[in-house]
Amino acid sequence: MPDMLVKLYDLDFGWADEIQAKKGVTIRKPIAPERRYVIDWVMDVDGACWADEVANAMAHTPYTCFIATKEDELVGFAVYDSVALGFFGPTGVRPEHRNQGIGTALMLACFRDMRMKGYGYAIVGGVGPQAYYEKTVNAVAIPDSWPGVYKGMLTLGDKVSWDSERQRWVRQQT
Ligand SMILES: CC(C)(COP(=O)(O)OP(=O)(O)OC[C@H]1O[C@@H](n2cnc3c(N)ncnc32)[C@H](O)[C@@H]1OP(=O)(O)O)[C@@H](O)C(=O)NCCC(=O)NCCS
Repeated sequence: MPDMLVKLYDLDFGWADEIQAKKGVTIRKPIAPERRYVIDWVMDVDGACWADEVANAMAHTPYTCFIATKEDELVGFAVYDSVALGFFGPTGVRPEHRNQGIGTALMLACFRDMRMKGYGYAIVGGVGPQAYYEKTVNAVAIPDSWPGVYKGMLTLGDKVSWDSERQRWVRQQT
């Protein structure tokens, strides 16, 4: 689960707009009255760690969080500058809406926002699906980067692990 480096200056951001038009998806920043809804949704789907990271991204003004909606339903989210400045993630798309480009569109929305702020690179923190980031944004693994900024985190060690079948972090009962 290394961190991965992404060259923001090399990305084609227009692709994200095409996907939105083709799939009837809207990618946007949530507004303040939606804050609790979004955090609760992430809590439900992905658990407390990610919900806290989303809450942090929604503590900034403007938010460093994007959501994907389809027919007025929340189907995915992505955040940056949450666990550490310059870091992308977490992100998630509801299982029934995956593999339609929504996750990549959310990620590119974050990366475009970061690029506009002046970042040259983004770091995907402690990635689960490494192959996904290699394929979509040519990300490269940073050597010796695990546990990186997560070192000493109170829920780490043998308590949290990546479940590749369910594509999510799972917390073991201790
Ligand atoms: C990772 C995730 C956000 C991707 O969202 P998505 O909407 O399914 O992604 P996209 O449709 O934009 O995928 C684009 C491409 O990446 C591929 N891809 C998607 N998930 C992948 C994975 N886990 N491993 C390798 N390739 C993957 C798709 O097949 C697709 O390729 P194609 O265009 O050739 O068909 C989604 O799978 C998810 O929510 N996973 C669980 C949470 C998670 O792992 N978050 C990341 C933590 S670091």
